Amino acid sequence: MARRQRCIAASLPALVSLLALLVAVWANALTTSFAIPTGFLRHVSPTSGRMATNVGGTMISSSLTLASGGVVLALSLLPRRSSTSQTLRGAKGEAEGKIKLFSPAKVNLFLRIIRRRPDGYHDLASLFHTVAFGDSLEIKVLPDAEKDALECNLPGVPVDESNLVIRALKLFREKSGIERFFGVKLEKQIPAQAGMGGGSSNAATAFFGANLLCGSPASPEDLIRWGDDPVIGSDATFFLSEGTAYCTGRGEIVTPIEGLPIKEGLSVYLVKPNYGLSTGKVFKAMDLSALSTVDPEELLQTFKDKGTSHSSWVNDLEKPAFTVSPDLSELKDFLATEWGFEAVLMSGSGSTIFCLGDPSGGSQDFEAATKEKFDIEGIWKTSFMRRPSPTEWYQEV
Ligand code: C5P
Repeated sequence: MARRQRCIAASLPALVSLLALLVAVWANALTTSFAIPTGFLRHVSPTSGRMATNVGGTMISSSLTLASGGVVLALSLLPRRSSTSQTLRGAKGEAEGKIKLFSPAKVNLFLRIIRRRPDGYHDLASLFHTVAFGDSLEIKVLPDAEKDALECNLPGVPVDESNLVIRALKLFREKSGIERFFGVKLEKQIPAQAGMGGGSSNAATAFFGANLLCGSPASPEDLIRWGDDPVIGSDATFFLSEGTAYCTGRGEIVTPIEGLPIKEGLSVYLVKPNYGLSTGKVFKAMDLSALSTVDPEELLQTFKDKGTSHSSWVNDLEKPAFTVSPDLSELKDFLATEWGFEAVLMSGSGSTIFCLGDPSGGSQDFEAATKEKFDIEGIWKTSFMRRPSPTEWYQEV
C-alpha cells in the first residue's frame, strides 16, 4: 500500500507536466498567435494580481496565476508567433535586456487651425509625417528600482517629471497595471522648440519600448488609445501611428493614413534657426480672423492623390510665428525664393522651416549661403520615413 502511494507521489509531477502540456497545446490551437513573455510572473501587477496578455490581437485578461509552474514552462516552450517577436525587428539589443530605439522627428505637411476651444486649446486639422532625422533612446528594466531614471546627453534637458519620457513611463504603468521601472538613456539631436515634436516623439518611443520590454501586453491600437492623454503632450499619439496621420482635436485624435505617393528619394531639408518658438506664445499671437479658409479634408485629399507634387501648402501658425519672430519670415522668404525648392513651409509652431527637393546650386552652397545670412542652429538633409509595419518601430536609416 505504502509502495503504491510512493509510486503515485513519484509520478505526480510527470502527470502535472503532461496536463500542463495538454492545456498549452489546447491554448495554442485556439489562437494563431500566442506567447507568454519571459518573466511573465514578474510582470503581474502587485496591485491587481492580473495581467493582460495579447492573444491574436484580442486582450485577454490572464488571471493565470497558474497554479502549476509547469504550465508556464510548457507555454514558454511553445514556438513564439506573437507580435513581440515582430516588434523586436524595430529594436536593437533586446537580448541584453535593453533596447535601443530610434525616435524620429515630424513635420506638418499642412496645418489648419479650426477654432478656439473653451479649455483654451485650439482644434486643429493637420497632416503629420515622420522624417528620418531623430534622437535615439535606450531603455531597460530596472529590476529593483522604485522610480524611473533618465539620462540625457544634453545638459539643459530636464530629467525629472517635467520630461515627457518620465511622464510616458508613468502613464504606461497606470494603463497597463504593470509596476516596473525603467532606465532610459536619451541621445538628443532634435532641437527643442523646433516644431519637430522631439519631446512627444521621445515620449511615444519610451511608451513603445516599455511595452516591448514587458512582453507587449498592449497591441498597437491599445498603445494609441493609452497614449491619448494630455500629460504626454498633444503630438505623442501621432508617433504611435505608422508615421503618416491626419490629426485633429488638439492633435491627439489620430487618423492613420497609408503611405502618400511621395517621390522616391525626395530630399527634406530641415532648417532650424538659432532660436526656438514657444507653442503657447505662437497660439497667443494668432488672429483667428486671418486664417486660411481652405477645407482641411480637401487638403488631405490633395496629398493623398498627389503626394507633395502640388502647390497647396498651408500652415496657419506661420503668420503668428512671424509676428513673434520677424526674422523667421525673412528666413522663409530666402528659402522659398532663391533655391528652387518644390515647397517651403514652417513645421508645427516653428521655428523649423522644411524645404522639399534639392536646392539649385547644390546643398553645400545652399548651406553655406543660409548660414552666412542667418543665425542657424542646424541644417539637416533627410527624407520622409514610416514604420515598416504596425508592430515594428521606426528604424534608423
Ligand atoms: O500641447 P502643448 O502642451 O505643447 O501646448 C502648449 C500650449 O499651446 C498650450 O498650453 C496652448 O496654449 C497652446 N495650444 C493650443 N492648441 C493646441 C495645442 C497647443 O492652443 N492644439
